[in-house]
Amino acid sequence: MLPRFHQKVAIVTGASSGIGRATAISLAREGARLTICADRNVQGLEETRQMISELNAECLAIQVDVRNQAAVEACVQQTLERYGTIDILVNNAGTAQFVPFPMMQNEEYDRVMDINLRGTFFFCRAVIPTMIKNDYGKIVNVTSIMGDIGAVGQSIYNASKGAAKLLTQGIAVDVTGKNINVNAVAPGMVVTNLTERMLAQEQTEKFFLERIPKRRIGAPEDVAPAILFLCSDEASYIHGTTLVVDGGMICTR
Ligand SMILES: NC(=O)c1ccc[n+]([C@@H]2O[C@H](COP(=O)([O-])OP(=O)(O)OC[C@H]3O[C@@H](n4cnc5c(N)ncnc54)[C@H](O)[C@@H]3O)[C@@H](O)[C@H]2O)c1
Repeated sequence: MLPRFHQKVAIVTGASSGIGRATAISLAREGARLTICADRNVQGLEETRQMISELNAECLAIQVDVRNQAAVEACVQQTLERYGTIDILVNNAGTAQFVPFPMMQNEEYDRVMDINLRGTFFFCRAVIPTMIKNDYGKIVNVTSIMGDIGAVGQSIYNASKGAAKLLTQGIAVDVTGKNINVNAVAPGMVVTNLTERMLAQEQTEKFFLERIPKRRIGAPEDVAPAILFLCSDEASYIHGTTLVVDGGMICTR
């Protein structure tokens, strides 16, 4: 039997660490050909590329700042030149915010919104023409449960992830009649570069553990299978939805 993503071409953004790395490796393990990208963590991106190569899977690693439209379009173009098509896009690149609202500066607003929302917009728009032409495509946007609930010091993060969730729904409606699926995965609390410093504080870890019915902080490997499911043909009737992967945390709010 062929692997689930045999020869499928997938772009995974923010693949230099965390959830993006776990997703890219899982897709490669199941037969996909990858383009992985990230902005500054070039070393992390190269490590992911090597891990994928060790699985004997094809992988193109490109340094891309998702805020840069030209860089995003060039990444999509390079993927098309290398593989001839694009089947899957996982918009995972993202950033956090730990600034109380009264201290929020315009620059921080722009940084968070541009990475978490504009980058997702740029990548979706860049791949959609190919997916429409092929009448095939899977897009998964990594949002957050913080797109549904407010959190201390995360007002613009909340707004960016809530908007990304609605962007997912809006695109889903606009590809009506096409064999294209557009969904989101909303993680809860996951140990990655984004959160490890915060979770290293015993009090903070305890705070979250008390609110997570599964009584453990998530790992990137908890989130990747949900993303892969939505990228698979088994999920072809799931469209415009957000799959929460949070150990039940949102239930306690
Ligand atoms: N860790 C959590 O608890 C958690 C919870 C909910 C949602 N998320 C979301 O999961 C996604 C992945 O985050 P993670 O937790 O794996 O953290 P991470 O820091 O390990 O990964 C973030 C990735 O995004 C990339 N990135 C950041 N800014 C970029 C830019 N301007 N251009 C291109 N790439 C950029 C980084 O290089 C990195 O590869 C993010 O969208 C994040 O908001 C994480």
